[in-house]
This record gives sequence, structure tokens and C-alpha cells, in this order.
Amino acid sequence: MAHAHRPGHSGHRSPAHAAPHPGAADAPATPGEPPNGLPEILDLDAALFAPHLTALTGRIACLAGDDVRHIVDIGAGTGTGTFALLERFPAARVTAVDSSPAMLDRLAGTARDRGLGDRVRTLEADAGAGLPGVVDADLVWASASLHHLDDPATALAGIRAALRPGGLLAVAEVDGTPWFLPEDGSSGGLEARCREVLNALRTEHLPHMRADWGALLAAAGLPVEQERAERWELRSPLPEGAGRYAYLVFERVRGALDGRVGPEDLAALDRLLDGGPLDVRHRDDLAVRSTREIWMARRPADHG
Ligand SMILES: C[S@@+](CC[C@H](N)C(=O)[O-])C[C@H]1O[C@@H](n2cnc3c(N)ncnc32)[C@H](O)[C@@H]1O
Repeated sequence: MAHAHRPGHSGHRSPAHAAPHPGAADAPATPGEPPNGLPEILDLDAALFAPHLTALTGRIACLAGDDVRHIVDIGAGTGTGTFALLERFPAARVTAVDSSPAMLDRLAGTARDRGLGDRVRTLEADAGAGLPGVVDADLVWASASLHHLDDPATALAGIRAALRPGGLLAVAEVDGTPWFLPEDGSSGGLEARCREVLNALRTEHLPHMRADWGALLAAAGLPVEQERAERWELRSPLPEGAGRYAYLVFERVRGALDGRVGPEDLAALDRLLDGGPLDVRHRDDLAVRSTREIWMARRPADHG
């Protein structure tokens, strides 16, 4: 791993422990450490949706061009974007930025295991307060991370300063907890009710969760070139790991909703986790559905 850089923290950290990804529930954790289960959820999300991610990095390459040398991954987590982009851009190196040392350690270990240690630098920083020493990036990637940052305007100014003129910013945000249960009504609307309560919780903890990123990007001097919502969907037969992914997400949902939904819904959630016939680890009637909103914006080239 090249230069693991650990500057001191600049005061407030965004509540990563209130970080639902991919739309999973809030869970208590030691400040600065990822909540229980989140790293495994992120890795499973990356593995299950790898074909969608490959298609997305292909569209990024169409806008960014082939000559991408320096990529910055904001709120890199376990490295989903870092590794997908290293594969897409073989001449590039990545600066992986995260406020969680545990996430960065895990990402660094994966990079070493994959023989990519010399192409990845980790930077522990609050990306909402600027990106110290990061300049001349050809591409900045921010997936499920911008909504964690305290002040979008300050954060986007820092990202703009890190980009070279003409450099591209790709933002992806998740619309909430993924859907797993059959759409035939057999679950009695359980997921919809849970998502409603979770969304209210997130709005409380993460006020920028559903911000108008297109307008914020434009206001920050990063005009948007593409904006789209993509439905990422996996249907039966699901790939290996999907049952475990559903289990981990529902486990976190169950933890976050304790005392916040009625006893019938808690009992229904328990039945998805209890090893019985409805346990999501053993069912063949599940799907995985998630919506990603994508914005591609560019720092204008300098003229004169
Ligand atoms: C939901 S995860 C997304 C991880 C990864 N980008 C992905 O798509 O799988 C959000 C990440 O943002 C990080 N994060 C939260 N607040 C941050 C901040 N203020 N500065 C840098 N990273 C932050 C968290 O530690 C976590 O790793």
C-alpha cells in the first residue's frame, strides 16, 4: 500500500454509524468504526451487482476518456468503486478517502491481496472538509457517500479543487434499502412499511440523503452532463451470496426498527431471520432490487 496517510481528524465526523448502505439500517457502532455487518454488506453488494458496476464504469470511461491516471474515491468504504475503476482504467492509481480507519485498513488489505497495493493510496479524512493534498484528479467517484458529508457546498468545492480542469465527477446515490421479498403481495407490504420508517430515520440523521445533487453540483461549478436513475435488479436464480446479503440487510433493518414499528412487523422480520421456512437465507422466491441515481459532472476546462 502506498503511503497510508493518516492526518488528524478535523473535529466533527459525519455519523458513519448512521450510514445505511446499501440502504441498510442504522446501527450503533463505535464512533469512526463501521457498524457491524456493513463491510460485509458492501462487499456482497459489489459482488452481486458486479455486472451493473462494470456497465457503469464503461459509461464513465466514455465521458472520462482512456487517459485516466489519477482517480479519487470519496467515502471509499471497502473499495467497491476503487477496484472496479482500477480494472476499467489500467494505467490509473486511486486515492481512497474515508473517515473510517477500519474501512481503509480493510480496503488496503484487499488491495494487497489482489496485487494492487502499489496502485492504491489510502487517505483518512473527513471528505466534507476538503481533500488535503489531493490535486489533479482525472476522475472523482463518490458512491453512497456524499449524503454523509455535513455541508454539500463545502464538500463539492473540495472535490472541484481536487479535479484537474476538464476532470469528471461521477456520483451515485442509493434510494434506500434494497427490496427482496416477492412483489405478489404475500408479504403484506412489510418492506414498504419498513422503508418508510427507515427513510424518516435517515432524514433525521442524514439530512442530505435525498438532496438535489444535480442542482448542488451545478451551483458548485460542476455542470452536470448526465443524470439518470438505474434500477439494478437480480432475479431468481440468484447468485451465491444473495441470501446472506438479504439476511445481513434485514438483520440491520430489524435492529433499527426495534420499538419503531408494531409487534406484528417485528415478528414478520424475525421470521425472515430465524432459520425457519421464511428465512431469507434459504428461499428461492427472492429478488434483489435497488435504484441507483447517477450524476456525471465535469469541472470546466480553463480557458486562457
Ligand atoms: C455507505 S458507505 C459507501 C462505501 C462505498 N463508496 C460503496 O459504494 O460501497 C459510506 C462510506 O462513507 C464513509 N464516510 C462517511 N462519512 C465520511 C466523511 N465525512 N468523510 C469521508 N468518508 C466518510 C463511511 O465510512 C463509509 O465507508
